[in-house]
Amino acid sequence: SPVAAFVAALPKVELHLHLVGSASLDTVLALAHHHPDGGVPTEREALRRFYAFTDFPHFLNVYHRVNLLVTTAADVVTLLDGLAGELAARTVRYAEVQVTAVRNRMAGIAYPELAAALTDGRALARERHGVELGWIFDADATLGPEGAEETVDFALGYRPEGTVGIGLGGPEVGVRRADFAPAFDRARAAGLHSVPHAGETVGPDEVWAAVTALRAERIGHGIGAAADPRLLDHLAEHRVPLEVSPTSNLRTGAVTAIEEHPLPVLRAAGVPVTLATDDPGMFHTDLNAEYQLCHDVFGMTVPELAEIARDGARAAFCAPDLRERIL
Ligand code: HPA
Ligand code: ZN
Repeated sequence: SPVAAFVAALPKVELHLHLVGSASLDTVLALAHHHPDGGVPTEREALRRFYAFTDFPHFLNVYHRVNLLVTTAADVVTLLDGLAGELAARTVRYAEVQVTAVRNRMAGIAYPELAAALTDGRALARERHGVELGWIFDADATLGPEGAEETVDFALGYRPEGTVGIGLGGPEVGVRRADFAPAFDRARAAGLHSVPHAGETVGPDEVWAAVTALRAERIGHGIGAAADPRLLDHLAEHRVPLEVSPTSNLRTGAVTAIEEHPLPVLRAAGVPVTLATDDPGMFHTDLNAEYQLCHDVFGMTVPELAEIARDGARAAFCAPDLRERIL
C-alpha cells in the first residue's frame, strides 16, 4: 500500500526500546539453548506462547527470566548487532536504548565489561548498520531507590559514550515515582536527561509525579495522562513528549482493546507524541508496524505520520546535525 511504502522509506528515530526486549526470537532461542535451566523455551513455537502475556506483572516476570539469559559481554554485543540490523531495515537512523544495568549485573555481567560491550556494540551499530545509538540507563522500580542509586553510580561512573539519560521502568503499582527523586536529582545534576516510564498501567497521578518530582523531559508511555485534561495541557504547554507504544500496551494488557488506546486523545490535546516499540522481540512488532497501526486503527494520514516522525526527531537527545538530517 502507499502508506506502507511511505513508512518504509521514512527516516525515523526510536526513543523507547529495551535492550533485552529487543532480542529477536532467534537470538533468544540461541541464549535459551546456552542456558537450558533458565526456564525459557528452546523451541520457536513454545517461545511464541511464552510471549503471550496474561497481564503486566506476567510480562515483567517473563522479561526478568529472559534477562537472566544475557550473562556475558559478548551476549550484549550480539543483542546490539541484531537490534541495529532490525532498526536499519526499518530506516531508523537513531535509537535510544534502555539498558537496565543493575539487572545485567545481577545476571553476571560486571560493570566494566558491560560498559565496554555497550561501547563496542555502539561502534558496530554505526559501522555495520549505519545506526546511531544512545543509552538510557533505566532503574527497575522493583529494586527500589537503592537500585536507582546503583544505576546512577554506573551511569556516572562509567558514562559509556552515547549516554543520554536516566530512566525508570518496572511496576508502578505499589511503587511511587517520587521515591526515586534523589537518584534522578543526582543524575540530572551531572547532565543526564530524565526519561522515566510513568502512566503505563496507572492513571495521571504517577505522570504528575514524573513531571514534578523526577523533572521528566520525556515520558515512557504516559497514556494514563489521557484521563486528566489539566495534565494534558501541562504536557502540551511544556512540550513534554510521550513515547507511545500501542502494541506494547495491548500485549501487556495496559489497554484492553487497541481501539480504546488513547493515542488520538493525546494528539488532539496537542501533546508531542513519538511512536516506539518498547520490546519489539517480545511483542512481535517493529517500528514500521506501529506507524501502520496508526493509519489502520486511528485513521492517521501520511502527513500526520510524517509529523509523528518529526516530533520524534525533535524529542531525541541526539547530536543536532543528526537531528537535522532526520528532519
Ligand atoms: N515498562 C516497564 N518495565 C519494562 C518495560 C515497560 O514497558 N519494558 C521492559 N521493562
Ligand atoms: Zn518500556
